[in-house]
Amino acid sequence: MKVMVVGGGGREHAIIKALKKNPAIEKLYVLPGNGGMAADAECVDIGAKDIEKQVDFALKNRIGYAVVAPDDPLVLGAVDALEAAGIPCFGPNRAAALIEGSKAFAKGLMKKYGIPTAAYEVFDDKEKALAYIDGQKPPIVVKADGLALGKGVVIAGSREEAKRAVVSMMEERRFGDSGLRVVIEEFLEGPEVTVLSFTDGKTIVPMVSSMDHKRALDNDEGPNTGGMGVIAPNPFYTPEIAARCMSEIFLPTVRAMNAEGRRFKGCLYFGLMLTEKGPRVIEYNCRFGDPEAQAVLALLESDLFDIMRAVTEERLSEAEVRFSGGASCCVVVASQGYPEKYETGYEIALPDEPGEGVDIYVAGARLDNGRLLTSGGRVLGVTAAAGSLGEAVEKAYRAAEKVRFENARYRKDIGKRALEAARRE
Ligand code: AMP
Ligand code: GLY
Repeated sequence: MKVMVVGGGGREHAIIKALKKNPAIEKLYVLPGNGGMAADAECVDIGAKDIEKQVDFALKNRIGYAVVAPDDPLVLGAVDALEAAGIPCFGPNRAAALIEGSKAFAKGLMKKYGIPTAAYEVFDDKEKALAYIDGQKPPIVVKADGLALGKGVVIAGSREEAKRAVVSMMEERRFGDSGLRVVIEEFLEGPEVTVLSFTDGKTIVPMVSSMDHKRALDNDEGPNTGGMGVIAPNPFYTPEIAARCMSEIFLPTVRAMNAEGRRFKGCLYFGLMLTEKGPRVIEYNCRFGDPEAQAVLALLESDLFDIMRAVTEERLSEAEVRFSGGASCCVVVASQGYPEKYETGYEIALPDEPGEGVDIYVAGARLDNGRLLTSGGRVLGVTAAAGSLGEAVEKAYRAAEKVRFENARYRKDIGKRALEAARRE
C-alpha cells in the first residue's frame, strides 16, 4: 500500500520511521516533509495547509491511507476532504479537531461535562476583558482562543501585564484572528504531564506518559517554545493518578465529544497539571505532540500502522498497543536565538554512528546539492531509548554532542527534574 503523511517536522519523521516497520507499506510520501527525512520517505512539495492539492495528489498516486499529523490541516478539515475522496485517514475530522482549534470550545466542553480544568471566563470584548482583570489576583493566565504555534499563552505576574497581553491579542492582533477572542483563567500549580492517547471514539488507549520542556533555556527559564525536549515516561504520573485521569478526564472527554456529535478519532493529546486538588486539563490537542511523539513512539513496541488503521476502522479495542517498560529522552537541537530571531543555512554534520537505540529526527533542514542545511528554529531531535531514564538521558546527550552545525544550541537539563523526582521516590 502507498501511504502519505501530511506535515514536515520531527514528529512526522518519527511517525514515518515507525510506519516503515510495517511491510505492508510499499511506498511512503511526506507532504511537504523536509530534506532531513528524504532518506525515509519521498518528500512532495505540497504544503501542510494545501488541502486541495493533497487530495489531488492522493487520488493521482493511488494513496491507500493518509496520516494528517499537524494541527492546522486537521482544524481546516483535511481529513474531511481526504475521506470525501475515498481515502481512509488517521486524524480527527474538522468538527472533532475543534477541541484544539478553539480554547473557548474546549473550556465550554469541560464545564458542561464536569471535566476538571482551571476556572475561566471567555471574552470577545476587550473592555470587558480589561475590567475582569481588575477583579483578579495575579498570576493571571491569558490565552488566545485559536491556534498560535504554542505561543498564545501569557502567564502574567501582574494585572498590568495581563492587560498588555489582552491589548496585544485583541487590539494589535498579535496572533491574527486567533486572538480576537481570549480566555482568562485561574493559575494552576503542579507538575505537568502530557498523555497522548489513541481513540476511535469508542475505546481510548493512553500511551506512555511524557514530560515536555517548553521553555527555551535551562531551569525552565526564557520564553515558551514549541518544546525543547521530552522524557517518557513521566515519573510524576503514578498508576493511581493514571487511574483517576482515566475515569475523571479521558473517558468523560471521549463521551462528551460523542454527545456533542463530534466523535474524535485519532490521537487525542491531554496536557495535564497535577495540582494538590487532583489532575486538571491545561489543554487538549487534536494530534501527536512535537516533540512528545518522538519520545513516546520510541517506546512503542506494537505496530503503529496496525493501530492507526484500527482507529480509522473503529476497532481499536481489538488492537495491540504495547509499550516497552524502558524510558526515552528526546533532546531538541535548535538554532541559536530560537524561538525569536535565528539564522539558517548552516551545514549539518550528523554522527555516522549515533549509538544503539538512538534516532535522529529532523525538523528544520533542507537538502542543497546533497548537503543538509539548517532551515528552521528547531533543527532536529536526538532521541534515545534505554532500560532506564538515566541511561536514556545520557545516551541522548552523548549523541547530541556529536551533531554539528554552526549556531547549534540545546538545553542541557532535559530529564533533570524527572530524574530528581524519580530518585525521591
Ligand atoms: P498551553 O499552550 O495551553 O499548553 O499553555 C502553555 C503553557 O502555559 C503550559 O504548558 C503551562 O505551563 C502554562 N499554563 C497554561 N495554562 C495554565 C494555567 N491555567 N495555570 C498555570 N500554567 C498554565
Ligand atoms: N509539544 C507541545 C505540542 O506539541 O503542542
